[in-house]
Amino acid sequence: MAVNAFGIDLGTYNIKIYNGFTDRIVSHKNMIAIQNRRNLFAYGDDAFTMYEKAPDNIKVSFPLTYGVIADINHMQILIRNFINDEMDGNIRSADYYISVPTDITEVEKRAFVDLVKESNIRARNIYIVEKAIADGIGMDVEMHRSQGFLVVNVGYETTEISILSLGGIVLSKLIKTGGKKFDDAIINMIRKEYNLLIGAKTAEQTKIDLPELEASERDAVVYGRDIVTGLPVERTIPTMLIERAMHEHFETIIDNVRLILERTPPELGADIYKKGIFLTGGSAGIGDLHQLISKSTGLKVLFSPQKEGSVAYGLSQIIKNERLHPIVYTMEDFSV
Ligand SMILES: Nc1ncnc2c1ncn2[C@@H]1O[C@H](COP(=O)(O)OP(=O)(O)OP(=O)(O)O)[C@@H](O)[C@H]1O
Ligand SMILES: [Mg+2]
Repeated sequence: MAVNAFGIDLGTYNIKIYNGFTDRIVSHKNMIAIQNRRNLFAYGDDAFTMYEKAPDNIKVSFPLTYGVIADINHMQILIRNFINDEMDGNIRSADYYISVPTDITEVEKRAFVDLVKESNIRARNIYIVEKAIADGIGMDVEMHRSQGFLVVNVGYETTEISILSLGGIVLSKLIKTGGKKFDDAIINMIRKEYNLLIGAKTAEQTKIDLPELEASERDAVVYGRDIVTGLPVERTIPTMLIERAMHEHFETIIDNVRLILERTPPELGADIYKKGIFLTGGSAGIGDLHQLISKSTGLKVLFSPQKEGSVAYGLSQIIKNERLHPIVYTMEDFSV
């Protein structure tokens, strides 16, 4: 069934769009390449391939920082192009459901609505959905009836830890940790231990390859520039060192999960105890994070099947299911 609506999960790394006309979710890198300060050179995945490789006159950047809009003009260009592509160059009017983090200011939330309004995409109605609620809906259709649900979404620059109950948010904390910190930790460790400079893409790939390398008991092979000789070289790095480098950031996530649990009303805690913790976001499967969370809290940890697409999947469920519409709101619902 086609619906004239789009659901948008604006992530710091990936923008996920649910297209109600086609009933499909697409994901693109939330990245733009601008030439000579004014010309759009590339966007999305094409811009990403140029990242860390472009000449000085082409600036490749992410318009979102720590989950909030940092560069509104470039974000508008991206939204317009992505939506235009989704509608094959013929933008028709549609409703927009945009997900936002909970633990940001109202001004920052309003900026997401203004973004959709001002991107020239013929937005009819603009609805706001808290990301954690979309996550919850995507993971458990009975979420609106359930009391006590803990969702941890580990993304790129952020991790959002939220307690949900009866379809609403009881507590939510957005921390500045995620895939980017894991990549940086790998880069720093390799520079320190091996005098080798590697790029962010190499670090990310190594991180993603870890489970496979560990399963086959192989070390990681990375390419980079030797700091001493200045020459490109290849090095073999034990996977154990890579895991260990990321642990400091796993600790930050675990500490914050514990903090939220300590503040959770006891009755909700009982429900969470029965259900466990839901781990989602693109970085959910990183290293032994799930085991460490489980060990430190005594709770079981479950993965959402959608991982990085979980918010967009939840948005698609909300768009298609009128029964869930009471959980969305508009900017007019704000007091200011
Ligand atoms: N198999 C994998 N193992 C580990 N990390 C992964 C894997 N696949 C993707 N990632 C990481 O997931 C991150 C992107 O996840 P996601 O799309 O959820 O982030 P985002 O929504 O754009 O960011 P944020 O929510 O912080 O704004 C990247 O850091 C990427 O390296
Ligand atoms: Mg995200």
